[in-house]
Amino acid sequence: MRGLFSVENRVAVVIGAAGGIGRAIAELFCGLGGRVVASDIDEKGLNELVDLLSGRGCDVRGFRADITRVDDVRALVDFSLKSYGRVDVLYILPAINFRKPIERYTYEEFDRVVNVNLRGSFIALKEFLEAMKKNPEGGSVVLFSSIRHLVVEPGQSVYAATKAAIVQLARVAAAEYGKYNIRVNVIAPGVVNTPFVQQIKRDPEWYRAYAEKTILKRWADPMEIASVAVFLAMPASSYITGSVIYVDGGWTAIDGRYEPKL
Ligand SMILES: NC(=O)c1ccc[n+]([C@@H]2O[C@H](COP(=O)([O-])OP(=O)(O)OC[C@H]3O[C@@H](n4cnc5c(N)ncnc54)[C@H](O)[C@@H]3O)[C@@H](O)[C@H]2O)c1
Repeated sequence: MRGLFSVENRVAVVIGAAGGIGRAIAELFCGLGGRVVASDIDEKGLNELVDLLSGRGCDVRGFRADITRVDDVRALVDFSLKSYGRVDVLYILPAINFRKPIERYTYEEFDRVVNVNLRGSFIALKEFLEAMKKNPEGGSVVLFSSIRHLVVEPGQSVYAATKAAIVQLARVAAAEYGKYNIRVNVIAPGVVNTPFVQQIKRDPEWYRAYAEKTILKRWADPMEIASVAVFLAMPASSYITGSVIYVDGGWTAIDGRYEPKL
């Protein structure tokens, strides 16, 4: 039964590996005996991660790529196949956000957010699926949405729209690639302590309010998202496809307006 919960010798590509959640996924996946191609646009962060994990005896290789550039992503596919011969698991994490009202949003900011969050994810999905469909055992792809695809607040317009788009993109990919035994799922995190949320962490009131909104009354550690992402690479998750998995401490389960005195 141990094999059910194993990623030993599986090959994962983690795009956005220098960031908070991607880094935790790379750490966990290779810590459990898997092989990892770590990729990011941030070369310095990437090199630090690869040095750290190699020092722990992990089988990891780094490759700098910008997810919005088709040539970069194709080069990443080639590098991954040359390194390990196949790709079993793909994690697509990169996203950016400008938290501001629609009336102050510029068209340039709109283009940047859509370009990374939606177009970039689409490029990675399309290019890697082409390689993964040749894998006789199939594979698993995990895209990253957010609770913002479902529940919003002022300032999240374009980000929330791209995160809703990711859900539909993943569902269609799941429908199209099921015949190759490739599963495609989405993780929708709540609030996670990573560099992505520096703006919120700088404002103690904002930071506390977000913790209070969850059932668990706290932020997530990146490893609490990574553990679910790595589960989606295991044989134990073989019947999960086309799903959105909320890892949000209960954020979307309750409305949180008022706690009755019972
Ligand atoms: N942190 C949270 O609270 C939270 C909540 C909900 C959803 N998410 C989602 O989880 C995912 C990961 O978030 P995180 O908090 O780890 O973010 P992060 O900002 O810490 O990491 C994102 C990584 O993507 C990389 N990146 C950015 N643009 C890129 C590009 N063009 N090409 C390649 N890499 C690029 C960055 O360099 C960074 O290392 C995102 O999709 C985010 O929307 C995060």
